[in-house]
Amino acid sequence: MPDVSPSQRVLLVSNRLPVSVRIEQGRLVVERSAGGLATGFSGYHSRSGSVWIGWPGETWRLNPEQLGDMRAQLADLRAVPIELTAAEVQRYYDGFSNGVLWPLFHYDMNRLPMNAEGWSTYKRVNQRFADAIVKQYRSGDLIWIHDYQLALVPDMVRRQLPDAAIGFFLHVPFPSGEVFRLLPWRRELLEGMLGASLVGFHTVSYVLHFLTSAANVLGCETRAGRVELNGRSIRVGTFPMGIDFAEYDSLASRPDVLAEADRLRDSAGKAALIVSVDRLDYTKGIPRRLFAFERLLERYPRLRGRVSLIQVAAPSRVAVREYQDFRRGVDEIVGRINGRFASLGHDPIHYISQSLPSERLAAIYRAATIALVTPLRDGMNLVAKEFVASRPDGDGVLILSEFAGAAAELTDATLVNPYDVDGVVAAIRDALVMPEPERRMRMSRMRERVRTQDVGRWSHDFISALVTESRRAQAGRRRAAAAAVPADQPSDVVAAVLEDDRPLTLLLDYDGTLVGLRPSPDEASPDSEILKLLAGLAILPGVTVHVISGRRRDDLVLWLGALPIGLHAEHGLWSRELDSGRWRHRDVRTAWLEQARRLMVSQTEAVEGSHLEDKEASVAWHYRMVPPEVGRRESAALTRKLRRELAGTSAAVLRGHMVVEVRDAGVNKGLVARDLAAANPRARLVAVGDDLTDEDMFRAAPADAVTVHVGTGQTAARMRLLGPDQVRRFLAELEERLTERPRTEEPGRTESAVETGGAR
Ligand code: UDP
Ligand code: G6P
Repeated sequence: MPDVSPSQRVLLVSNRLPVSVRIEQGRLVVERSAGGLATGFSGYHSRSGSVWIGWPGETWRLNPEQLGDMRAQLADLRAVPIELTAAEVQRYYDGFSNGVLWPLFHYDMNRLPMNAEGWSTYKRVNQRFADAIVKQYRSGDLIWIHDYQLALVPDMVRRQLPDAAIGFFLHVPFPSGEVFRLLPWRRELLEGMLGASLVGFHTVSYVLHFLTSAANVLGCETRAGRVELNGRSIRVGTFPMGIDFAEYDSLASRPDVLAEADRLRDSAGKAALIVSVDRLDYTKGIPRRLFAFERLLERYPRLRGRVSLIQVAAPSRVAVREYQDFRRGVDEIVGRINGRFASLGHDPIHYISQSLPSERLAAIYRAATIALVTPLRDGMNLVAKEFVASRPDGDGVLILSEFAGAAAELTDATLVNPYDVDGVVAAIRDALVMPEPERRMRMSRMRERVRTQDVGRWSHDFISALVTESRRAQAGRRRAAAAAVPADQPSDVVAAVLEDDRPLTLLLDYDGTLVGLRPSPDEASPDSEILKLLAGLAILPGVTVHVISGRRRDDLVLWLGALPIGLHAEHGLWSRELDSGRWRHRDVRTAWLEQARRLMVSQTEAVEGSHLEDKEASVAWHYRMVPPEVGRRESAALTRKLRRELAGTSAAVLRGHMVVEVRDAGVNKGLVARDLAAANPRARLVAVGDDLTDEDMFRAAPADAVTVHVGTGQTAARMRLLGPDQVRRFLAELEERLTERPRTEEPGRTESAVETGGAR
């Protein structure tokens, strides 16, 4: 594994800095932040010389002198503050990050607001973070961006620093594709994260969910832990975050911490101590845990007075309504259970609703008989690991939710389903009587894991993988530069097109060229940007625009029918004349069509999520929404079957991007390219397309045509752009240059009458 060279500085970027500021009795207080991300990273940051960019808290409450003081203190910590306004925090942090993304990523759809707010502020604040990164960036730095609050930042930075090494790590679960796709902004969020060279998650299942969403939502290729997007290959991997084991291990042996642990045990009297430590968050499963504790006391009266629960609940996101309601609910449950089971000198639940420093947590962990960690969903849960690290005595039982990322590693914990209250009761009862040798054996295995996979190891693994990825990308760029058809910049293509001032015939493929691939073909309607570009070009003198596609006529008419452009549907079977607007079609033999349709219908029924596109003289089976592995297997099988059964007919079976299509071998986009070139030999043909079927037009184009393949991979085209974004930039720049260019003649649209040469 490559070492991170000392000259490589890491820019850590997260919403929250490791310290937060607040005003107490008119004075500035700078204190350690709670939450796994900030606590987990603090040690790494202080040792590694990294620079940490993030939000320091409610700075609008500070006067100018306090602001100056804060900035100086942060500078000493190598922290760069992003000072957000109250309105920004309300919309970006409370509203969108914690009101929409947090509940959805934790499978809590019922908490999604009816009217989600804050998306535009989320984008704007993400851009502020991206700009701050670019400002700090020095060549060779590694950029490591964290968590759901900043999901758009990787792509925003990539646009400004195309060759930078950018890593993104998500600290929360990445939900199943079925849940993620509920988000109206699913596409933007995925594209944002995929601006990174490396995207990391805590567990294998989050990685699999992410790959499925990337394939289904963006329609990109995903295999062997990589996503291929716009000519870039992004690695997606599992990096389970660890804690600073040494810190908790030694804290838990410090005399003052041991004394505090003894005091806690003494004050519990004979009672066994169960401890729970969380941010006060509805994902942590606190009410169900309290119900389980109540039921334990109900069911086993002899345990009353013999067992106590210490629940630390650090206030969190207090401005968010859901958190305020939740807090009230928890207060009530605690009050009720204590009222029901308290005796003189013994409260069954000791509830601490404050954020405690690590020394006090270590004492609580050390004093515990049982740590009860039962989140309903949790990306990792570092508390479970801190408990284990705080037990150098080798004793203590960990009861852990199977829905915490930590459960994938801490398999020696007693794993429970937090929704199964009776199951949790049984787990507590068993833990209370677990024989000491078993307790010690489990704890010793867990300690070994937490010790070896600590936060230092985690960050080293991630950074090393990022260095590897950035070297790989550099090598890829070198290879692409040396390749026969190197990737071009949009301006290079413009220059080739405008080599002389001949009229232009633009022949543009639609899906994957003008618009990105969408989960289902019906969703790929044109946005206003592309409509404006096409309209703007089409009215320029000396320019004719044609859109060609494998789609049905109805789709093209619905979406592009109002534009003054030529339309060619079903790969050129149908063409709409520019001037008269009449459709003409070529002769084809479709005796095979019914049989092909039957095979495809039964395939669509058999493979959930796939989609049949039934056209006049062709039929296509789309599998963009099918899990990638299944899609690959089924499309190969279908292609084989179709080729076998349609052998000897005039049908051609083609495997395109997430689609298998059957059409007449005699019709292809090449015919249209040839006809357009012949109709106006003075014009320069510019053909642009991304898929296999577009290769026909590249091959049929005259030698002086500008042919442009969109994407990586083999092509007969002369030039290459990397995705629809670049195609749009090319078209915009072309329009701009043509608008500025003085023209001496108006060539008219003489080619329109013959544009469908072979059509009748
Ligand atoms: N924490 C803290 N004080 C508290 C409660 C929690 O410092 O009173 C810390 C705790 O030590 C842990 C982090 O907050 O490091 C919680 O991380 P975890 O991964 O368990 O959950 P998160 O809060 O990130 O969802
Ligand atoms: C979780 C999130 C972190 C966040 C932390 C505390 O661990 O993954 O990104 O920092 O909770 O939440 P807060 O909103 O206070 O930063």
